[in-house]
Amino acid sequence: MSLQLDSNGRLHHLLTLDGLPKETLCRLLDRAGQIRDAALGRTHKRDSLVGTTICTLFFEPSTRTRSSFQIAAQRLGADVVNFDASTSSARKGETALDTMRNLEAMGVRGFVVRHPEDGAAEMLAEHTGEGTTVINAGDGRSAHPTQGLLDMLTVRQAKGPDFSRLKFLIVGDVKHSRVARSDLHALHTLGAGEVRVCGPDALLPGDGTLAGCEVGADFDAMLEGVDVVMMLRLQRERMEEGLVASLDDYHRDYGLTAARLRRAAPDAVVLHPGPINRGVEMTDEVADGPWSLVLRQVSNGVAVRMAVLETLLA
Ligand code: NCD
Repeated sequence: MSLQLDSNGRLHHLLTLDGLPKETLCRLLDRAGQIRDAALGRTHKRDSLVGTTICTLFFEPSTRTRSSFQIAAQRLGADVVNFDASTSSARKGETALDTMRNLEAMGVRGFVVRHPEDGAAEMLAEHTGEGTTVINAGDGRSAHPTQGLLDMLTVRQAKGPDFSRLKFLIVGDVKHSRVARSDLHALHTLGAGEVRVCGPDALLPGDGTLAGCEVGADFDAMLEGVDVVMMLRLQRERMEEGLVASLDDYHRDYGLTAARLRRAAPDAVVLHPGPINRGVEMTDEVADGPWSLVLRQVSNGVAVRMAVLETLLA
């Protein structure tokens, strides 16, 4: 996407990992790795964004993404305004574009945008003034690039930088998942050895999303020997009725249990972007067990978002 990169290859907005050059992606991951200590609050606040105002513009609920962007911006010295559609003039029908333009007129330079519609972040990026940056924090089912980056950083820390040795398995509601799409883009760019995708037919996308993946419905078979299991939330808010017969059936067929996990490689790790439906996508034993990198993902989210904010705005 040319909108996010200028002719010198400089990143202006972050809208998708699709087509983002490997060097750009790796540079962001390297930077996030370096600032991890600061990200976890162990060193003094940095000052690279002092005087910059950033707005989290959220038209959908969020816990992790919004707070970690806010923490990341504050740890870089920025001022942060949190816009919540449910308590704003969006309730009176003001559009996302008008909302952004008004905040831009107050001097906001960075917009972190979450929106239920595909392409919303890109649409806003097309309309920003010179020097204003848009970061996609999840649009519809399309993309969630910082989640893709933090997942890659988490795997890299656990398994090393050579993804060509690794077998990945993405499980569940891929159809409605922007996380899965961003993970797939990054895994292809980083040269993952094998990418398997598993879920009920009704929850797998029919478009070209799964090109280059091994796709199957039998979870136990797909788990054999994998190094990294990436679980997804059932996105019931984006689902037509009836795609999943019942949560019990879903858990029986696609729920990750400790017993099931024995089929994976002995040192396999488990990721989930949150929020977890405990007892549906995975048991407590898995979510809280030694394989789980779920909270590591959350910590890495701050580091990744610091690296992204600094790259785009400092
Ligand atoms: C994800 C999202 O909103 O896309 N959550 C997150 O950002 N960590 C995944 C989800 O809601 O299932």
